[in-house]
Amino acid sequence: MHRYINMLLFLALMAGVTIVAYPSKSLLHSSETVLKDDQNLPEDIAFLQGLIQIDKGRTGDPPEKYFHESYFNSHYDGRFAKSELPSQTRIPHLRALIRSYLTTMHELGAETWIMHGSLLGWWWNRRIMPWDDDLDVQVSEAAIEFLASYHNMTIHSFAAGDLTINPDDETLMQGRKRYLLEVNPHYVNPSTDDRENVIDARWIDTDTGLFIDITAVRVDKATEAEKGKSGEFRFKGATYRHSDPPQRLYCKDEHSFLSTQIFPLRLSVFEGVPVHVPFSYQELLVEEYGQEALVQKEFWEERHYFDQAKGEWIPMSKEMLKNREKEGEWGRLDKSSGLSEELKEWKAQIKDEDSGSEDSGGFRQVEIVLPASK
Ligand SMILES: *[C@@H]1O[C@H](CO)[C@@H](O)[C@H](O)[C@H]1NC(C)=O
Repeated sequence: MHRYINMLLFLALMAGVTIVAYPSKSLLHSSETVLKDDQNLPEDIAFLQGLIQIDKGRTGDPPEKYFHESYFNSHYDGRFAKSELPSQTRIPHLRALIRSYLTTMHELGAETWIMHGSLLGWWWNRRIMPWDDDLDVQVSEAAIEFLASYHNMTIHSFAAGDLTINPDDETLMQGRKRYLLEVNPHYVNPSTDDRENVIDARWIDTDTGLFIDITAVRVDKATEAEKGKSGEFRFKGATYRHSDPPQRLYCKDEHSFLSTQIFPLRLSVFEGVPVHVPFSYQELLVEEYGQEALVQKEFWEERHYFDQAKGEWIPMSKEMLKNREKEGEWGRLDKSSGLSEELKEWKAQIKDEDSGSEDSGGFRQVEIVLPASK
């Protein structure tokens, strides 16, 4: 027995893993070693085996690709995933994943905010959408450098009970939950041509293989350099005029932003924990998903509708689906330009209780016209 434990610990040390345990009943923690905290070995460290089974990743990945997703589903890490999880178990694990990530980053002082599908879920009801199978966050350049330098390959251990908010989730998650922070060494390459390594880091559930994609938001040095003194600049095919032009930012996954769209970050709540969201969250969501995604209460493709009274996404009944089929599919509108009157009105009705800013509507103070869709 002891030889087995020692071997695993030895291999873990060889893989460069550091273990940080979070004492029970406290999301705000001090670091301890997992061995001091956990007495129930060896099952408790069996998860480390995943780290040495690199061949369990998807076969056929190009050699330059750093992260290997599972062969059965690209939203799972091949080293830790056993199977695809059904929605009712996947969502509680995703919830625990984001709660552990946000609290850890907060404690480490690493600047991070939610983006893409996670931001859309936040927009509707501050929750993960029930059909999601991953989570997206961004970090600043300073944060990725900091995480790479000091926290790469650290395992963060939590009492499962501290990560659950729904009583139902408690039966699903017991004992400890451990998360691995892994930074892609290719993060030092800022080029979007490095297509196999667009994800700069991951926060991985060593239990299920589910993960959060972490992308660094970088200053676009090339276009910054050609910024004229006139205050006129081009972005996404449109020309803007600004006395103090914002910086152009991008991620290796080719999403691009203006610094004023992201900063200053707004403080809010997501899945019951504090979270930062981009300053112009609404504009970013419209750019990415079209304004329909912000007002349409039936997500036909995802087979869910939004129950305003409950503030929840509910699966469509068979009857509903049948009726919808007759009416024809609802498809998301084209990425639209600007914000519709309907959207403005609807947004104005929602009390912006969590923006932490005087600008209550969430609208930009700088007048920017989005380029028209093709
Ligand atoms: C993080 O650690 C892993 C395992 O040791 C290593 O392969 C990877 O290159 C490291 N990442 C960085 C950014 O140093």
